[in-house]
Amino acid sequence: MIPLCIPEIRGNEWKYIKECLDTNWVSSVGKFVDKFEEEFAKYNNAKSAVVTMNGTAALQLALVTLGIGEGDEVIVPSMTFISSVNSIKYVGAVPVFVDVERDTFVMDVSKVEGLITEKTKAIMPVHIYGYPVEMDELNRIAKKHNLYVIEDATEALGTTYKGKLAGTLGDIGCFSFNGNKLITTGAGGMLITNNEEVGKRAKYLSNQTKTITENGAMHHEEIGYNFRMPNILAAMGLAQLENVDAYLEVKRRNAKLYNDLLKDVEGISLIKEVDYINNCYWLYSILVEDNFKMSRDELLELLKENGIQARPFFLPVHDMKPYYGSKCSSMEGTIDVSNRGINLPSSVSLTQEEVRKICDIIKG
Ligand SMILES: Cc1ncc(COP(=O)(O)O)c(C=O)c1O
Repeated sequence: MIPLCIPEIRGNEWKYIKECLDTNWVSSVGKFVDKFEEEFAKYNNAKSAVVTMNGTAALQLALVTLGIGEGDEVIVPSMTFISSVNSIKYVGAVPVFVDVERDTFVMDVSKVEGLITEKTKAIMPVHIYGYPVEMDELNRIAKKHNLYVIEDATEALGTTYKGKLAGTLGDIGCFSFNGNKLITTGAGGMLITNNEEVGKRAKYLSNQTKTITENGAMHHEEIGYNFRMPNILAAMGLAQLENVDAYLEVKRRNAKLYNDLLKDVEGISLIKEVDYINNCYWLYSILVEDNFKMSRDELLELLKENGIQARPFFLPVHDMKPYYGSKCSSMEGTIDVSNRGINLPSSVSLTQEEVRKICDIIKG
């Protein structure tokens, strides 16, 4: 069985976690929490980082930190993992759905401005499968209409856009360390920002707005959240982060081989490559066109029969029960890629031989 995307544990994970167990620092404060935040901020060239219990919590925290709430509208793509959209609902705001581009699978920025109303407060670009949204144009629109930009960079750690890392291209960037992500803490997330005040407020809100009085009692000035990550998981995160560049190198090397082997296959479309984007290729993805020798679902079945775990693209969220009737742009791109897309195996442990085997099966 070649899995879709599994964790890679090869560094100081055991050592750092053992240190937490040996010293009893297993809960939500400790040196690894501080160090993981510090190193993650440094890696991404961000001023502040706030660790959270998962990526969904990081997104919710980003929204509350920026004061987005009841009745505010947030523009988000329909082709995403539902967490992006649910986080908007959790704060009482209203998701407004925008289409994705066929050749990148990410937010079609040309359709954003038509969705803006006086209630719009933010845009949430999602860098699906690692590919970054066209951020210069999106930031221009956001600035013109005085909107916040919260990047859902959960799938795009290490991706660069015009030399800048995903997650640092808007007001706040959010990451996930779920088991299938580039680095993992089992479950976890991170919020980053270049606005130190925003970073401080996010940290404060993530810890139940706790302050300590002179005699050592806990005081809470506002309703906060317990979004903290335990030290024991931060220890794992720090160890994973130490190897992130090596992981990225393998992802990109394997993606290049996939591209070389699949580029001339009739009926298979590959993601757009442009010189100012360095995709982290979190999940290597293809589209199955009508002129391929079998349907997308037949290809998924064939891969499964051969012990290869592949996955169809996300289904459009605007078309799921909790979001029926939401305001949307036209959705041609979303419907098309959602029907045609496949994520292929992309683990860091995936070998070049396995990539060749997968491509041979696709080529028949
Ligand atoms: C696009 C996207 N947004 C949000 C999330 C939420 O992250 P988590 O599962 O860590 O809550 C994920 C990943 O699972 C995701 O892929």
